[in-house]
Amino acid sequence: MDLDQIKKAASLEELEKIRVSLLGKNGIITKRFKELKNLSNEEKKKVAKELNELKEKALELISQKKYELEEELLNMKLKSERIDVTLFNPKPTGAIHPISDTMNKIIDFFTKLNFSVETGPLVEDDFHNFEALNLPKYHPARDMQDTFYFKDGTLLRTHTSPVQIRTMLKQKPPIRMISPGAVFRRDYDLTHTPMFHQVEGLVVDEKGKVSFANLKFILESFLIHMFGDVKVRFRPSFFPFTEPSAEVDISCIFCKGEGCRVCSHTGWLEVLGCGVVDPNVFKAVGYENVSGYAFGLGVERFAMLLNRINDLRSMYEGDIRLMEQFK
Ligand code: PHE
Repeated sequence: MDLDQIKKAASLEELEKIRVSLLGKNGIITKRFKELKNLSNEEKKKVAKELNELKEKALELISQKKYELEEELLNMKLKSERIDVTLFNPKPTGAIHPISDTMNKIIDFFTKLNFSVETGPLVEDDFHNFEALNLPKYHPARDMQDTFYFKDGTLLRTHTSPVQIRTMLKQKPPIRMISPGAVFRRDYDLTHTPMFHQVEGLVVDEKGKVSFANLKFILESFLIHMFGDVKVRFRPSFFPFTEPSAEVDISCIFCKGEGCRVCSHTGWLEVLGCGVVDPNVFKAVGYENVSGYAFGLGVERFAMLLNRINDLRSMYEGDIRLMEQFK
């Protein structure tokens, strides 16, 4: 009997065929076991022993060959299905995140008007985030911004306004700056995430050179640049670091001011806070004989309106299928 054919099997299918031909129901070895009954007792013993050894040997060879063939197959698969992670993809699957996109548009508008871009630390101290912005300790307006504190008294900045203070302490007037960046508040719902982005603006010059009228002109131009043909309205408001202060609304971009669900049937959308810099802020940084204006806006609010995003939280889940819609 030729057991060598086992070693020569070229595939698992071929090996299985050989196994059946030897050890299957009608296999050669099986048949010879069946023929044992025709032999004399003495011969039976001898031939049965031989047959059992033969069967054992065949089984061993088959299982060894099976292992070899399976290993070969696996190696071939590993080779042919290898993923080259260094491969260059000429069609990137990502997109610019709508928050970055909106941020870039805002920065672009102001840098073209000669505003510088300033940055500051995310972990702030009480002086820069509150005190110097005319928010003394125990001032009730501190509650406007629910703050994350660290044990050592430092905090995650609740707005980009501390960068106003840092820039004024570092430079001399005139100042014409914006400060984009992340801010943090204890807030989480459809339209609020604990981390979000603001862009701050500050203009300071000799007393009398900068007025509320300049502020109004800049912001109106800016909002029309961002949202197209909208009406802009200034509503009296309160911020500790500006006096007078205003909140700025645009006519609802969805219903054109008719009244809809997004604008709570008012026809207006609130998009900005602003005002004339409070004299106490200039005092805190040692500036004299100057005047200025400041404004602050939430980038997420702009991005949601511009891209019709309903649930802000989806922006931070990193789902590629969602992001691909913004290509
Ligand atoms: N810092 C304010 C806020 O976070 C926004 C603001 C900035 C208002 C500058 C007026 C002037 O709500």
